[in-house]
Amino acid sequence: MSNNPNRTSCARNLTLCANAEQASLYVAEQIAELIQEQQKLGKPAVLGLATGNTPKIVYQELIRMHQHEGLSFHNVVSFNLDEYYPIYPEDDQSYTYFMRKYLFGHIDIQPHNIHIPHADCPADAIAQYCKDYEDKIKAFGGLDLQLLGIGRNGHIGFNEPGSSFESTTRLVDLHPLTRKDAQNDFGTIDKVPHHAISIGIQTITQSKKILLLALGANKSTIISQALKGKISTEVPASILQTLPQVEYVLDRDAAALI
Ligand code: PGA
Repeated sequence: MSNNPNRTSCARNLTLCANAEQASLYVAEQIAELIQEQQKLGKPAVLGLATGNTPKIVYQELIRMHQHEGLSFHNVVSFNLDEYYPIYPEDDQSYTYFMRKYLFGHIDIQPHNIHIPHADCPADAIAQYCKDYEDKIKAFGGLDLQLLGIGRNGHIGFNEPGSSFESTTRLVDLHPLTRKDAQNDFGTIDKVPHHAISIGIQTITQSKKILLLALGANKSTIISQALKGKISTEVPASILQTLPQVEYVLDRDAAALI
């Protein structure tokens, strides 16, 4: 049990929180601690970052810590999980836009330390682009901490059902459920891209620490499958069951079926 009455630590690296806010504040604390520990050592903190609804309160809290508690991001190197393809970084639906709006535009991260798959390169340059993205992560010694959400189909990043557990950064086809869930952001389903660039499952599983955050009742079914079901490429997040460095942080609604 933790000292915080809103939080319970359970077996299998499970942290259950009373609500989305508590879960998000807990994740933000973990990130801030890592950044500060690395600062004391004079080292970069290499963060794998996620987009979507799930990390929004986490980012809001990190901004608050920066503005009111002096948390600096000067040593942070970030790699985002994924980006639609094709899309321009300045498009409202791009993850470059998202990260600027919800985090980077409000903190002191150095612009040259931000990495997001800018998927506006021509089709014949994508394979090399993906290899370079992967090499850059390796050049920093890998990811110190990967923040993950989970898709309703079990995807992590845009590693959709069927993705190999050995996959690295690459161009992927988006699953129909992923496109449907993105419909609100794009207005109509036909405007949602069919492809994306995503870091791979292997890239994710090599992170030194992985925090999977799931919030809300619409994640309860997939969370139950991912944590308790068979390990299968049909539920990409199920591979995380095998990793000691994974911590699942769930609010009560997301944890309802486990
Ligand atoms: P969400 O997406 O945070 O918007 O629910 C999560 C994901 O698809 O990984």
